[in-house]
Amino acid sequence: MNFARTPRVTVFPDAQTAARVVAARLASALQDNPQLVLGLATGRTPIPLYAELVRVSAARGLDWSRVTTFNLDEFVGVPPESPGSYRRFMEERLFRHVNLDPHRINFLNGTADPDDECRRYDRAIAAAGGIDVQILGIGTNGHIGFNEPGAGLEARTHRVRLRSETRRSNATLFGGEIDKVPSEALSMGMAAILQARTALLLAHGETKASCIERVVNGPLTTELPASFLQLHADADLILDAAAASRLTGAG
Ligand code: GLP
Repeated sequence: MNFARTPRVTVFPDAQTAARVVAARLASALQDNPQLVLGLATGRTPIPLYAELVRVSAARGLDWSRVTTFNLDEFVGVPPESPGSYRRFMEERLFRHVNLDPHRINFLNGTADPDDECRRYDRAIAAAGGIDVQILGIGTNGHIGFNEPGAGLEARTHRVRLRSETRRSNATLFGGEIDKVPSEALSMGMAAILQARTALLLAHGETKASCIERVVNGPLTTELPASFLQLHADADLILDAAAASRLTGAG
C-alpha cells in the first residue's frame, strides 16, 4: 500500500492570494453541496479569507441558507455578544454578511456549564454528520483550535487551560491586555478535526515558519497538535511565502 504524503503543501506569494484561491474553492464546494457543513476558525489568519468569501458570495449570489457551521472554540466566561468573544468576531467577519440561517450556526457558549456544553457540541457535530471542510489556523506553539501542546491530546470537545503564549497572541481581542484574556477556553477536540472530510490549514508569516516545518517534516507528537494532520487523508497546508520559508522544495 502506498501512503500519499500528507498534508499537501501549497505556497502562495502572499496571504491575499491564498485567501482568493481558498474562497473560490469554498464557494465551489458550497455550490456543489448547498448543505455543506463547514468548520470555522478565528484568529488573524482567516480574516482575509472571510473578507474574500463575503465578496465572492455577493458576486456569485451564493446561497448559504442550508449551510451548517461549527466554530472550533470559545473563551470560558465570555458571553457570545461580548466584544472579545469569538462568536462576535465571526458575526462581524462573516455571519452577518451572508444569508446563513442562525439555527445552523453552531458555537460553543463560554458561559454555559462547560461539561454539558462540550457534550452538547459533540452531539451536534455527530447529528450534522460530521464536518465536510474544516478551516484551521495554527498557533505559534502548534495548537489547532485550542488543542494546546502537552503530554496528551483530547479527542472530544473539552475545557482547556490556555498557555501564556496563546493568551498573548489573543490579547488584541481584549484591548491588548493579556491579563484580560481568559485563562480557559472550550475547544473542539482532535477527533472532530481529524474526522473532517477535508482540512485546510492556513498559515501566514515568519512566526509560523518553524511550526510549519515541524508539521510537514517532524514526527507526530502531542507537543505539536497540528502534526496529527499527517494522519489526515485530505489535508492541505495553505501558506504564504514567509510561513513556508523553512521548507525546502515546497510550492
Ligand atoms: C487562536 C485560535 C486558533 C488560531 C490561532 C492562531 O488561538 N484559537 O484557532 O488558529 O489563534 O491565531 P492567528 O491566526 O491570529 O495567528
